[in-house]
Amino acid sequence: MATAYHGHLHRDPVARLRLAEGRTDPYRIYAELRPHGPLVPTRLGNLATVDHAVASTVLRSASFGVRPVDEPAGTEATFDLSFLDRNEPDHSRLRRVAAPAFRPRLVRGYQERIDQLVSGLIDQLERRGTADFVADLAAPLPIAVITQMFGIDDTVGIDAQAFARYGAALGGSLDGIHSLRHARELMEAGTALLAMFDQLLTLRAREPRDDLLSVLAAERGDQVRAAELVPMCTLLLVAGFETTVNLLGNALQALLDHPDQWRLLTEQPDLAAQAVEETLRWNPPVQRTERIAFEDQEIDGIRIRKDQWVMLLLGGTGRDPKAFPDPDRFDITRSHALEHLAFSSGIHYCLGAPLARLEATVALQQLATRLPQLRRNGPVTMRRTTLIRGPLHLPVAPGPPG
Ligand code: HEM
Repeated sequence: MATAYHGHLHRDPVARLRLAEGRTDPYRIYAELRPHGPLVPTRLGNLATVDHAVASTVLRSASFGVRPVDEPAGTEATFDLSFLDRNEPDHSRLRRVAAPAFRPRLVRGYQERIDQLVSGLIDQLERRGTADFVADLAAPLPIAVITQMFGIDDTVGIDAQAFARYGAALGGSLDGIHSLRHARELMEAGTALLAMFDQLLTLRAREPRDDLLSVLAAERGDQVRAAELVPMCTLLLVAGFETTVNLLGNALQALLDHPDQWRLLTEQPDLAAQAVEETLRWNPPVQRTERIAFEDQEIDGIRIRKDQWVMLLLGGTGRDPKAFPDPDRFDITRSHALEHLAFSSGIHYCLGAPLARLEATVALQQLATRLPQLRRNGPVTMRRTTLIRGPLHLPVAPGPPG
């Protein structure tokens, strides 16, 4: 029985991760994979890893990419995700356009706006008495931040709420398309956003302002074609939506499920940044990514053939005992000398990491300071997706019962 079971597991760990079992507790599957070695074969002839060192090596290697080396981008039916979906040299050519706007120093300039946004959302939460943390804080915050970064407000003749709704629809599709209706919604959202970005880029090219769209619009030219800027806008819009929502949800869920850690944070709100890092290690919003080998090669004595995909199970790498002692323990005082892979590594390292970290840190700091009695107020419903992991509903109440 055990052999048959392991035979099946050995053949297709990734398939199990996509089932209900993987949704409920992927960490059990990662733990089962670990004894099979750093690179485990899958049924489709690919490989999967939960090993932090091996995953880092693959992500940083120039012998791997996000698409086959000879496959041109933009031929798929799905929407174009700009440099996230490009190999070199296109990747760097395009990333260079957006990168300056996400430098940590510049992102720190958003702190005051983020403080105000979080403060307003907590005011509402307090007034209401009970709340769904996801719908009432985790989701509106990143949407408001990126909408403001883009410079979208009433003055540009675009309905900011429709913009946010379309962005959320596309952001929610990162885990795949679930039905025909879903596909139609996505098509509509994609088309509407395309038209909005096109219109706004033209406007900002003529009359630049101090916003992200003006930075991008100024880059139209020899290096970057106008047609490449709209997919870039889409990427910057969707990459930070569901990811940040689920970082916030996972962080608060972990803290409320570990009351000693929540108490510690309420006593020392300056631990918020560390609580964010620990959440990213312990229960990251993006559970996996993948790379394809450009050539035959060997890692840790294991042969990898050209065109073989390697699934990097990022959630599993955060629980690698070789990288993190006592890895299943959620401990906000843990040292993070070795960085987790929640934001990936190498050339595709998350461009929005400083922004996501800032939003989550400000939110946790304010929650711990203003609502130390915050508690769970009902069962958590988990999101049905497995690539993106986090609570769909997290009912909370700001004070003790009664
Ligand atoms: C790339 C995670 C927030 C923009 C990535 C990747 C991961 C990731 C894992 C790399 C995927 C790969 O290597 O295949 C996260 C998480 C976030 C977050 C966990 C929040 C907690 C954001 C935000 C933005 C953003 C707020 C921007 C507003 C991007 C972009 C890329 C990226 C543009 C592509 C980088 C490249 O290909 O060079 N993110 N992200 N992300 N992320 Fe994030």
